[in-house]
Amino acid sequence: MRLNSLLNSDHFLLGTFASNCGGGMTVSQLPDRWKATWENNLVLAQLLDEAGIDFMLPIARWVGYKGETDFHGYVLETMTWAAALLAKTTQLNVFATIHTVANHPVVVAKQIATLAQMSNNRVGLNIVAGWNKPEYDALGLDLPDDHETRYGYAQEWFDVIRNLWDHDERFDWSGKYFHLKQVHGTPRPDFHPPIFNAAGSAQGREFASRNANFLFTPAMELERSRKELQELKAQAKAEGKDVNVMTFSHVICRPTQEEAEAEWQYILDNADTGAVDNLVNLQFAHAHSFPHELLEQIRERMTVGHGGFPLVGTPEKVADLICALHEVGFRGTTLSFFDYVKEFPYFRDEVLPLLKARGIR
Ligand SMILES: Cc1cc2nc3c(=O)[nH]c(=O)nc-3n(C[C@H](O)[C@H](O)[C@H](O)COP(=O)(O)O)c2cc1C
Repeated sequence: MRLNSLLNSDHFLLGTFASNCGGGMTVSQLPDRWKATWENNLVLAQLLDEAGIDFMLPIARWVGYKGETDFHGYVLETMTWAAALLAKTTQLNVFATIHTVANHPVVVAKQIATLAQMSNNRVGLNIVAGWNKPEYDALGLDLPDDHETRYGYAQEWFDVIRNLWDHDERFDWSGKYFHLKQVHGTPRPDFHPPIFNAAGSAQGREFASRNANFLFTPAMELERSRKELQELKAQAKAEGKDVNVMTFSHVICRPTQEEAEAEWQYILDNADTGAVDNLVNLQFAHAHSFPHELLEQIRERMTVGHGGFPLVGTPEKVADLICALHEVGFRGTTLSFFDYVKEFPYFRDEVLPLLKARGIR
């Protein structure tokens, strides 16, 4: 069977995250913070494509986190962003990130199938079951308090998509949330596009292991991750499944350790603290993605890299840390940078050859 390249390779997967969002993953007031314009995203995508990076993953966001800068108030829509980037690249996989309740599954199934055809099957789908209450209020949608309903809805939503991708014929669907008559969706993708899902709750993880090719979880501490991954894999194995777990990381790579750490501190000193407060409080209130007992401790990480695992230091140190993520069992990581276009070339030239030499790329 033909497979998407993410499912067909055994190297440690690397992608970028959140370049479609103003500020990227850094909650900063600095005037040179990341501008998520189409021009910047296109330059980045072409750099990544040429460097053999595996994928780009966007964040879907409908209202910002307020604060001085209204962090993530400026965000490019992800399905259209993916379409345009796929048309302008040749190897890179590009994901669309989709909130289940804000997007009808019949529409999404056809959008993704269209992009699969357009891109020689390089499109992926990141499913968001919902957690950000102010965003749901802004859209006039109810965010159910309980995870059972959120993921119950997401399951039926994705079952509809899978049925459309698997069948040529028209069919009726009579479920709890969807009542569809004589629906069909052609063209269908040649094979199922790769599915990402990020979840911290038990229900979310069950959803991810049932439906996604890759489950995302934060890497707080390496030994904690090792244990968590062993448990996730044992659980999947008991159900006769295999699970690929990914994480997300933030890169500050400089010629010396001192320079990299000074940059970390400089970003902290210029944080948008109002937006960081809102981000942390919303995570506490509605999501289980970060372990709640660690949330205050990771306030710094929230500021610099939206909670991503810090890859801070010399190229050698950054390569060591990526190898450590690989060694504890992660299948890959996303990368973010304060300025993706300015900083990625240094990572490409100095870190990628080390990862290659160490046999993980
Ligand atoms: C890598 C990654 C990507 C995510 N992308 C989005 C996104 O684009 N939009 C969004 O609202 N939430 C996003 N989330 C949040 C998750 O979809 C999920 O709702 C959250 O982790 C809460 O998990 P829980 O439902 O198990 O509590 C992302 C999380 C991670 C780790």
